[in-house]
Formats: sequence, C-alpha cells, structure tokens
Amino acid sequence: MQKQLSVRHLLGIKDLTKDDIELIFETADNFKDVLNRPIKKVPSLRDVTIANVFFENSTRTRLSFELAQKRLSADTINFSSSSSSVKKGETLLDTVNNILAMKVDMIVMRHASVGAPHFLSNHVKCQIVNAGDGTHEHPTQALLDSFSIREKLGSVEGKKVCIFGDILHSRVALSNFFALQKLGAEVMVCGPITLIPKYIKELGVKVELDVRKALEWCDVANVLRIQLERQQLKYFPSLREYSLYYGINRELLDSLNKDVVIMHPGPINRGVEITSDLADSKHSIILDQVENGVAIRMAVMYLLAGKI
Ligand code: CP
Repeated sequence: MQKQLSVRHLLGIKDLTKDDIELIFETADNFKDVLNRPIKKVPSLRDVTIANVFFENSTRTRLSFELAQKRLSADTINFSSSSSSVKKGETLLDTVNNILAMKVDMIVMRHASVGAPHFLSNHVKCQIVNAGDGTHEHPTQALLDSFSIREKLGSVEGKKVCIFGDILHSRVALSNFFALQKLGAEVMVCGPITLIPKYIKELGVKVELDVRKALEWCDVANVLRIQLERQQLKYFPSLREYSLYYGINRELLDSLNKDVVIMHPGPINRGVEITSDLADSKHSIILDQVENGVAIRMAVMYLLAGKI
C-alpha cells in the first residue's frame, strides 16, 4: 500500500510526525528529478482544482505553489484580497465558501491572523494548506528549509542550526523549531533579547545573544528579516545599530575558519540582517531553498490530494 500522511490538512509542522516529514522529503526527491527533466510536468493532479487564497503579500510562496500546481497538471485559481470583494466587507468564510461553490478541492491560504487556516479546516470540507498564518506557522517554508539542509549536508540529524534575528514575529522560526527537532537537529536562536520570545527555552531551543559565539557553534545559520510591519513597539534603537550588532557579514564568517551554511527564507533586507557579499557568496544556499520550494510544495499537495 502507498504510504500516506497522518494528517488531512497541512496546518503546521507541529501536527506532523517524523515519518510524515520523511515521506514528504522522499516524494519531493522524486519531484525534483521531474523538475530537472526537459519536460517538467506530470499528470498526477490532473482532476484536482486548487485555489491560492492570499490575504497577505507574497512572492516566493505564492509563485512556488502556483508553479508546483502547474507542474502537477492541477487546475489553479488565484485570489488576492487586495483586489477582491474582501474590500467591500466580505468575510473570510463567505469568501472561501464562494470559492468552494466553484468546485475547488484544495485551498492554499496565507492570512495575517494566527489560526485562520485552522478555523477554515473546521468549517469547510476541502483540504487546507497553510501558506503562513500571522506570526504562527509557515510549514512549507520549514519543510523546504530542512530539505535544503539535508541536500547540502547529507542529513538534518545531529546538525546544529541557529536561527538569527526577529524570532518573536517569525512564523518561519516556529515551524523550523518543530521540523528541525523532529528530524534530530539541535536548535539555537540568536538576536536582541527583545526579539526572543520568553517561552523559547520551554521549546528546547538554546539562546545565544552574541552573534560570533552563535556562528562558532552552528553548522547552519538561518538568517531572518526584521519584520517591521508586525512590530507594534520599538524593539531596538535603529536598523543601523541592529545591523552593527546582529547583522552577519562576509568578514565575520571568514574570520571563523569554519564552514557555515547560510540560509534566508526571503525577502532579504540587504545590508540589515545580512550583507550582499555574504547573501550572494558560495556559503549561501538561499536560491537552492527557493528551487526546493517547488518540489516540496508539489510533494505536499500530491500527498494531501490522496486524501480528497
Ligand atoms: N519566504 C516567504 O514566505 O516569502 P514570501 O513572503 O515572498 O512568500
């Protein structure tokens, strides 16, 4: 019998088992082979209709889901709240029920509110994929991040991964903690104390406030953007000061005399959390992460479609 995921929706990494993550990776390996062929398309989701419902801006996630759907031969429709009847006062549930009335099988949703995809999964019959809910989870980002570490270093198990920057407002960080720990990595965070959540140690995550010490410890540095759009308070004096004390640059990395794999989920604020010379250097796998996002999202939608 074909292996299946233990979940009906992908709402967060917290809900997945290690076997689920490994199944997604094995499936993504196969799809990555497909994506490297001259004909990059398979008929796997030929009779499946998927709506990409985005209530927040996105470049990578949205395009990657859409391309993954096209590679799987699914029918796709795209909804963007900024050009929709949400502007006229329509609710989330009414919006989604109207989309579902058009016979849609799966919804990929990004929303600014924590728990929005969980709410939907309790009120509609189709499969839901969380493409980022507020400051909570971004499961496909964490899957592609761990998949990229596995590709670069052979495995995730036993690796030391440090997540740098604005942990407090980051859905990428929380999903990464869950994914990395389920796969056997050690996890640390590094940033200004004001941007590190108070509950962090309860999650089994180490804390280091000194960037050099954190870089000396880790095999992989996943550098996050300062999410000014989510910050209601002033968490540090200025971006210039943040960059001086918490920014990662080529000179600092070269002075360590060791290899550290540099990752970033994007979008990058060049010159703030990371300098251009490092983001574009041989240490960086940032564009590999983007490439792997398509195969990972193909795998997630393919596996969930088996449960329609
Ligand atoms: N990494 C990520 O979620 O990027 P986008 O916001 O551009 O989708």
